[in-house]
Amino acid sequence: MKGIIIYKSNYGSTREYAQWLQEETGFKALDFRKVKSNELTNAETIVIGCPIFANRPLLAKWIEKKWDILKNKKIALYTTSGAKANTPELKKGFQESFKPEISSKIKYFPQGGRMVISKLNFLHRMLMKLGQKMEKDPIIREEMGKDKDHVDRKGLKALIEYLK
Ligand SMILES: Cc1cc2nc3c(=O)[nH]c(=O)nc-3n(C[C@H](O)[C@H](O)[C@H](O)COP(=O)(O)O)c2cc1C
Repeated sequence: MKGIIIYKSNYGSTREYAQWLQEETGFKALDFRKVKSNELTNAETIVIGCPIFANRPLLAKWIEKKWDILKNKKIALYTTSGAKANTPELKKGFQESFKPEISSKIKYFPQGGRMVISKLNFLHRMLMKLGQKMEKDPIIREEMGKDKDHVDRKGLKALIEYLK
């Protein structure tokens, strides 16, 4: 089966998963800005990977824009996040990010991500601070200000099975 992995990654964790998936499946992994439209059209299976920003997959708009090309293919989405992969809010955020006719055709596999506050660019650090200010729950608020590393290759098991 012809497949391709398309990802967006600012700080490397989503790319790391894309490279592991490339090794496991033989599908080519490409930054979403470099993918040519014929590469999308020719693929039967498309794996899309991106970080979660403000509870939403960062490539949600891109997926919507490309939906005419994507809609008849096998589509899997993985996200990386500061939240652990099994956090229920991730699935809720996924549902809320797409129209039902799109979310029902995408199989979603949340993965643990990484966030090192000192490495964030200025804009991202400001956004995190703003998000923290708006968060009412003091425990979550404190958690948001901490570094996290939940990156784990083993998290891809179910996704790899799905692609077989
Ligand atoms: C501005 C900003 C907003 C974020 N929002 C969330 C969020 O709502 N939920 C979450 O779990 N993680 C959030 N994160 C953490 C990222 O999803 C996480 O660091 C991700 O693994 C980064 O992927 P990358 O290394 O491929 O860039 C946020 C990070 C930044 C910088």
